[in-house]
Amino acid sequence: MDCRHIQFCDNKSKIDFKQLLELFQIAAFWAQSRKIEDLEVAIANSEPAISVWDGDRMIGFARATSDGVYRATIWDVIIHPDYQGAGLGRKLVETLISHPRLSRVERVYLLTTYQQGFYARIGFEYSNPSTTMVLYNNQPVAEPQPVQVR
Ligand SMILES: CC(C)(COP(=O)(O)OP(=O)(O)OC[C@H]1O[C@@H](n2cnc3c(N)ncnc32)[C@H](O)[C@@H]1OP(=O)(O)O)[C@@H](O)C(=O)NCCC(=O)NCCS
Repeated sequence: MDCRHIQFCDNKSKIDFKQLLELFQIAAFWAQSRKIEDLEVAIANSEPAISVWDGDRMIGFARATSDGVYRATIWDVIIHPDYQGAGLGRKLVETLISHPRLSRVERVYLLTTYQQGFYARIGFEYSNPSTTMVLYNNQPVAEPQPVQVR
């Protein structure tokens, strides 16, 4: 596939949320029930957010959150199935990590269920799994203990 005409865009105002939702529904098993209004908040609080374009068709997306120095995390890396296997996913991640908000960061993290091989090709390594913990919000958790204020 000749992908020389494919454009990578870091301007968040260009993101087409309807196309983004469709992209998630086609290719992102973890993001099937997302809503446009929530995606707008997530992207407003992400920097950079990169969209990938074939003319007017949005065929890829990825975003990151970063403190600019110590830690950053990559989220929601997607290339439309019609365009996979042509080097665009690699270019998408490389565009993300070369952005000034990530390029000087000490450690760039990501979570992946199935795509370890892809990220390894780009230079990511396995971190120690026992160091990663998560708090699931909006789910039952232990009863909060009352805080005593003196
Ligand atoms: C993962 C994804 C973004 C990769 O995009 P892509 O455009 O197909 O990947 P590329 O063509 O740029 O591949 C780059 C390199 O990784 C390799 N690669 C791609 N997927 C791989 C996999 N699953 N396992 C091992 N290697 C893989 C390619 O062979 C290529 O190797 P090379 O540099 O030696 O040529 C794409 O498959 C996708 O969108 N999948 C669905 C969504 C998803 O799972 N995203 C990741 C969530 S964490």
